[in-house]
Amino acid sequence: MQYIPLIHLSDLPENTHKSVKNGSKTIALFHYGGIISALDHACIHKGGDLGEGFIQMLDDQERYVVCPWHGWQYNLKTGKAPYGYLDRQALYDVIVENGMICVSEKPVADAFRAEHESDPLADLRSLSYQTTASSLNILGISATNMNRDLPRPSTSETALQHALDIAVSKFGAQTKMIKLRELNFRHCEGYYSRHEEACTWPCSISEMDADDGMNEIYRSMVLWADAVILATPIRWGNASSLYYKMAERLNTVQNQITTHDKVLIKNKVVSFIITGGQDNVQGVAGQLNSFFTDLGFTFPPFNFLGWSRGWIAEDMENNYTRFFKNRYVRRSVIDLVTNTVKLVQQIKHMDASQLQAPKPKISEAGSLSE
Ligand code: FES
Repeated sequence: MQYIPLIHLSDLPENTHKSVKNGSKTIALFHYGGIISALDHACIHKGGDLGEGFIQMLDDQERYVVCPWHGWQYNLKTGKAPYGYLDRQALYDVIVENGMICVSEKPVADAFRAEHESDPLADLRSLSYQTTASSLNILGISATNMNRDLPRPSTSETALQHALDIAVSKFGAQTKMIKLRELNFRHCEGYYSRHEEACTWPCSISEMDADDGMNEIYRSMVLWADAVILATPIRWGNASSLYYKMAERLNTVQNQITTHDKVLIKNKVVSFIITGGQDNVQGVAGQLNSFFTDLGFTFPPFNFLGWSRGWIAEDMENNYTRFFKNRYVRRSVIDLVTNTVKLVQQIKHMDASQLQAPKPKISEAGSLSE
């Protein structure tokens, strides 16, 4: 067996680990319990650098390196995942010669990525779109929060339900309403901030937890919907915090453009219902529009319905009644749905297969700073 010298033994003291590059090969070296071991540095999941991982002793009293990107674990001495998993990181033999740590040129145990019998995210992974040439699927998303046990009327959410009802009665649409407050979903955990490739599609959190509530948004928004109508209250001049919680988790969609030059949202339309007791409808619309255009959505003319009664309208007990008695509101909901549906019907005929996104792409990273 051929061995490649990597580093001097003194450069890897006991209880340390790091990745070392030699030519085209990068190896993660570990020195624990008096043993030096070597694994391929790029995690078989998505390529996280195991040399930057942390070490954990598991119940089997073996040391494992925990991948810094999404937490997969590998036994330092065997490269194997913990009991119950068949995955394995490539393992190299190690010898120390003339004070140098040398690793075998080829792995003594190859990497193995186990096929998981049933993949709960298979439809997201393969982008199994459910839209068709004739579908008219309209997704309503309500970003209103309220106490489940003490429900109260919400202007934005009631208007959204009204909009979906009109989509059914006037245009024969299929509709679906998702209330964000009823989804149990985690905050974005910022994998992107460690490495752009660590923010994956499907979302890294979905990969760890197939029951995470955002999976319903990913399926409904990316795979099922032809149009989305998002309804939010105004909170301190902004969209609701639930909206932002969802938006952060949609980085997985936008990041596919950055990392893989892949646009997941094509030929889809979005409109908004924005209501607040006081003001900043246009400011909120601006934020929503700039985010959704970054995902790839298209806007109909006049794509938001706004309602606010002004700075001094603190009589919130009257807000809901006034909202629904208002002729402008009743007409505008119909107009919003009509414009949304008309645009869906038009853009369905557009060939978006070659759609390009004028967004920064990692493939251009070298030129971004030029
Ligand atoms: S890249 Fe290692 S766990 Fe995802």
